[in-house]
Amino acid sequence: MPNILKTRICSLLNIEFPILQAGMGQVARGRLAAAVSQAGGLGVIGSAYMTAEELRREIHYVRSVTDKPFGVDILFGKVNGEDPVSMRYNREIESLIQVTLEERVPVLISGLGNPVGVIAEAHKRGMVVMSVVGNVRQALKLVREGVDAVIASGCEGGGHVGRIGTMALIPQVVDAVDVPVVAGGGLADGRGLVAALALGAEGIWMGTRFIATEEAFAHQNYKNKIVEIDGEGTVVTRAHSGKPVRMIRNRFTEEWERRSSEIQPYPLQLMNVGERAAILGRVEGDVDHGVLPAGQSSGLIGDIKPAAEVVRDTIREANAVLRRWQCVPFEDESVRSAGDQKFFDCSGEPF
Ligand SMILES: Cc1cc2nc3c(=O)[nH]c(=O)nc-3n(C[C@H](O)[C@H](O)[C@H](O)COP(=O)(O)O)c2cc1C
Repeated sequence: MPNILKTRICSLLNIEFPILQAGMGQVARGRLAAAVSQAGGLGVIGSAYMTAEELRREIHYVRSVTDKPFGVDILFGKVNGEDPVSMRYNREIESLIQVTLEERVPVLISGLGNPVGVIAEAHKRGMVVMSVVGNVRQALKLVREGVDAVIASGCEGGGHVGRIGTMALIPQVVDAVDVPVVAGGGLADGRGLVAALALGAEGIWMGTRFIATEEAFAHQNYKNKIVEIDGEGTVVTRAHSGKPVRMIRNRFTEEWERRSSEIQPYPLQLMNVGERAAILGRVEGDVDHGVLPAGQSSGLIGDIKPAAEVVRDTIREANAVLRRWQCVPFEDESVRSAGDQKFFDCSGEPF
């Protein structure tokens, strides 16, 4: 009998469990990525705010800890503009892409923007390419460009978000594309994993849950805040980067609510305001004035624990759900054929 939790994503990425730790700038460095990969998921280095040399060091760190596959997430959102800030921004992204290709990192993920132009080169080097999308249009475009899988992330999630909620987004993307879909946004435990599979996804992309881990590169105050707040403790604002970002509601978000007309377009707001505020919050631990991206799943997170435990607990919880259901379908002829092969096949055996 097939194992429901062994999906195409596990085969594509060569991982044991369909759990991907989301790329998170300044939070997901080598230590977190290595711990998740070593535990059987896919650990991902979030390269945002790193220099090329820092990224190279983090990649080497992961390789010194584990020989399992891992990824690098790059915000591909290059900008048009001849001004020095835009040109510096584009140069920095270019150098992160270059390092990731040179190092032949097993999985390259575009967190924002379009990796076209890099996909063929990555494939030549034996790398898998995945892209984060927030709607069907983006998913179709990126699949046409040749990405191997898409990560559909709903607006419940932390960090940059689209407008569609996870529950509605995932089945729409699953119906539209033929590559594996990974679900993100608001998922923080085994119930979320099973729900994502039921919607047709083949894995989950969890960010906020992994902030509250021992290995996350985040100030203790930030981790504590994730545990402290409930599901209403976050807000979506352009004040961090110029694009919508979900983050913890605090004095920073309240002040920029009053000054919303002053917010500059991406990436100017990021480079002139957001980068400093991000360091203040995530690294220096000023949880009142800094930028602290987090999703609505914060309300589900009650502890800070090792990343490997997050992976194991998620699988344990998913198993419990599958066992509890025992997946007995209606036998009545009138509803029997309604699901067809297209939907979740409950005949698998849990771990
Ligand atoms: C602290 C933080 C930083 C993030 N930074 C990035 C980033 O640099 N690149 C990216 O693609 N996504 C980034 N994201 C979004 C995540 O990759 C992911 O889509 C999101 O966390 C999933 O939803 P969840 O937080 O509900 O698990 C970030 C999210 C958080 C919480």
